[in-house]
Amino acid sequence: MDFPYRTGSECPLFLAPMAGVSESPFRLLCRRFGADVVVSEFISAVGVARGLEHLFQDMRFEEAERPIGIQLYGADATVMARAAEMVTAVMRPDFLDINFGCPVKKVVKNNGGSGCLKDLDLVERIIRAVRSATSLPVTVKIRSGWDDAQRDPVTIALRCRDAGAQALTLHARTRTQMFSGTAN
Ligand SMILES: Cc1cc2nc3c(=O)[nH]c(=O)nc-3n(C[C@H](O)[C@H](O)[C@H](O)COP(=O)(O)O)c2cc1C
Repeated sequence: MDFPYRTGSECPLFLAPMAGVSESPFRLLCRRFGADVVVSEFISAVGVARGLEHLFQDMRFEEAERPIGIQLYGADATVMARAAEMVTAVMRPDFLDINFGCPVKKVVKNNGGSGCLKDLDLVERIIRAVRSATSLPVTVKIRSGWDDAQRDPVTIALRCRDAGAQALTLHARTRTQMFSGTAN
């Protein structure tokens, strides 16, 4: 399988990003115990574009963590592009990951995270804007849909690919399932 960055393994083991957990020491331990690729917790593109210092502290990583992706979320393509440009220049990770999976109300109410899945044109616009703002590989994290009625992971994945996503992670639940129930 071809990944858009070096993984060191044909079938790499990815550390799932977890807000409040996936900090540098934790990621380093996981790399040591066998994770091939790690990703930061989700970071607000609005905050990055505003230059919030604490977010740049949160995004710091050790060279030993590579390959590492910084994960951004936001619902405004222009702001996402600006944040992608800044993270590329300042943090220099191995790839950028876009979060279209977060189900939390605070994020979704501003159309961020899995909120974007209700509007696949918006998903495409965000991916295209981020691709054109960075020289790094751009990957995405999705859920299988907003709810059972709109569950269509293959269409979402194909739209992401068409817009330029270079790899995709599926959290195989809908947004309304949050974090429980059977992953399908
Ligand atoms: C506490 C917690 C925080 C999470 N934070 C993120 C995050 O910041 N970005 C992301 O893409 N996924 C996040 N996830 C989702 C996980 O990466 C993963 O996709 C999900 O937990 C898989 O389902 P499972 O826990 O049933 O195995 C989080 C999950 C948990 C439990």
